[in-house]
Amino acid sequence: MSKFITFEGVDGAGKSTHLAWFADALRQRGPDVVVTREPGGTPLGEQLREILLNQTMSIGTEALLMFAARLEHIEQVIKPALRAGKWVISDRFSDASFAYQGGGRGLDWDKLSQLEQWVHPDLQPDLTLFFDVPVEVARQRLRSPDNNRQSNVTLDRFEQEQAGFFERVRAGYHQRIRQNPQRYAVIDGAQPLEKVKQQLEGIIATL
Ligand code: TMP
Repeated sequence: MSKFITFEGVDGAGKSTHLAWFADALRQRGPDVVVTREPGGTPLGEQLREILLNQTMSIGTEALLMFAARLEHIEQVIKPALRAGKWVISDRFSDASFAYQGGGRGLDWDKLSQLEQWVHPDLQPDLTLFFDVPVEVARQRLRSPDNNRQSNVTLDRFEQEQAGFFERVRAGYHQRIRQNPQRYAVIDGAQPLEKVKQQLEGIIATL
């Protein structure tokens, strides 16, 4: 049976590295896996991503564009793949809007719930892997020379935010998890890579 799995975490939590490994490990067990991302995942969504990551705009506009890209993504990519029996792994989904626009930017949580109800009343991830790391660790990783985007100049509009913003984003994720804990696997992203892989293997074994 097809499954919809999402990866979440503050910028620098390491989720994208783990996502690639997780998708490969899953494919080896047989399922046809589609890997996608938000904002993005469709030609229009990728154009909206470019704007969202680089252009200053009001908080409301930011939230609406995130959900506009999401609607396109759901209709063009996620639902067709699930209907075809494929597994879909998305690098971020609506939890990121609650965490970043709600927690980080302070947009009213109810407004985000209304958008969620409008855009995907009948779809939620079967499982969300939340990579949790202390904000200081995430910020160091973002700025480390190992990261191919070494300097502030190449960090996007979100990545350039101050520590306080990321603390609120992280708190936003935790609030969302408290509302529906059974959907999430919380992974300590500060552990050594091998430990994280072991934990991911354990999760794959339960799917
Ligand atoms: P990424 O760097 O993980 O690809 O995500 C791009 C940025 O977009 C990241 O800083 C988080 C942000 N974002 C939101 O603010 N709201 C959303 O709904 C999504 C999907 C991402």
